[in-house]
Amino acid sequence: MAHQILKGKKGIIFGALDERSIAWKTALAAHAEGAEIVLTNAPIAMRMGKINELAKICNAQVIAADATSTPDLENLIQKSMDIFGGKMDFILHSIGMSPNVRKNIPYTETNYEFFLKTIDISALSLHRVLQVAMKADAIKEWGSVVALSYIAAQRTFPGYNDMGDTKAILESVARSFGYYYGLAKKVRVNTISQSPTLTTAGSGVNGFDVFFHYAEKTSPLGNASAEDCANYCITLFSDYTRMVTMQNLFHDGGFSGTGVSKMIVEELQKANS
Ligand SMILES: NC(=O)c1ccc[n+]([C@@H]2O[C@H](COP(=O)([O-])OP(=O)(O)OC[C@H]3O[C@@H](n4cnc5c(N)ncnc54)[C@H](O)[C@@H]3O)[C@@H](O)[C@H]2O)c1
Repeated sequence: MAHQILKGKKGIIFGALDERSIAWKTALAAHAEGAEIVLTNAPIAMRMGKINELAKICNAQVIAADATSTPDLENLIQKSMDIFGGKMDFILHSIGMSPNVRKNIPYTETNYEFFLKTIDISALSLHRVLQVAMKADAIKEWGSVVALSYIAAQRTFPGYNDMGDTKAILESVARSFGYYYGLAKKVRVNTISQSPTLTTAGSGVNGFDVFFHYAEKTSPLGNASAEDCANYCITLFSDYTRMVTMQNLFHDGGFSGTGVSKMIVEELQKANS
C-alpha cells in the first residue's frame, strides 16, 4: 500500500518496544513510505526489547533516551540532526507507563509518587520533547509531532486508573504547545486517540480484555489495529494534512461517536434472558 508519501522526510520515532508496539508498526510504515528515521526508547526498554531488529529492517540508527530526562532528549535531538544533516520533519511520541497501573493500585488509593511518575513519563515528556526541539530549532516548517492518547481522557474507564487523567494532560499539552509552536515555526502538534490495542502497555491495564471486546462490539468499524494507527500517523506526518494542528483525533472505528451498539444490546438481552 506504500505510496512514498514521506519520501525525503526525516523523523524520530519514540516507543518501539516489540513488534506489537504502535511505534514499531509506524516505523515500518514510515520506512516503507520513504522516510529516514531514528529510533529511540528508554535505556532499560532497549535492553529488554527488540529495537535493534527493527533498526536493521528500517536501516535506522538507535539512540537511547529516557523521555523524562532533558539532557537525554537534548542529546537525542542533536545526534538525530547530525544523522539527518539538518532539521527533521516529524516526531512520534508513543510513550506510556503508569506504576499505579503496573502495581494494580486502585485509583481511589493512588500512590502520589507513582502518579507523578505516570504524568512525567506519559504526558510531561511530550512537553519536554517539544521544548527541546523548539530550543534547538530542530523541526522544519510544516513539520508534524504526533502523540498517542486514549478516550479515557474524556470518559472514565475503571482500570485505566491515573492514565486517564494523564492522557487528559497529554492532549492539553498538544493543544497548548501546538499553539505556540504553530505561531513560532508552523510546526503542527496533534494527538491520536486510538482504539484499545493488544500491546505491552495496553494489556497491562486491568480488565483490558473487556475494554477491547466492548470497544470491538460498540464501534461500527470494529477496533482500529496498530497497523491502521501507523497508517494514520503517516498521513499526519505527510504534506496532505498541513493545516491540522492542536487536535485530538479519534482513530477508533467510530467508538467515540456511539452511545450503545446493536451488538452490545443483543449481548445484554441474551445474558438477561
Ligand atoms: N495499547 C493500547 O490499547 C493503546 C490505546 C490508546 C493509546 N495507546 C498509547 O499508545 C502509546 C504506545 O503504547 P503501545 O500500546 O504501543 O505499548 P508499548 O508498551 O509497546 O509502548 C510503550 C512505550 O513507552 C516506552 N516508555 C516507557 N517509559 C519510557 C521512558 N521513560 N522514556 C522513553 N520511553 C518510555 C516503553 O519502553 C514502550 O516502548 C502509549 O502512549 C499508549 O498509552 C495505547
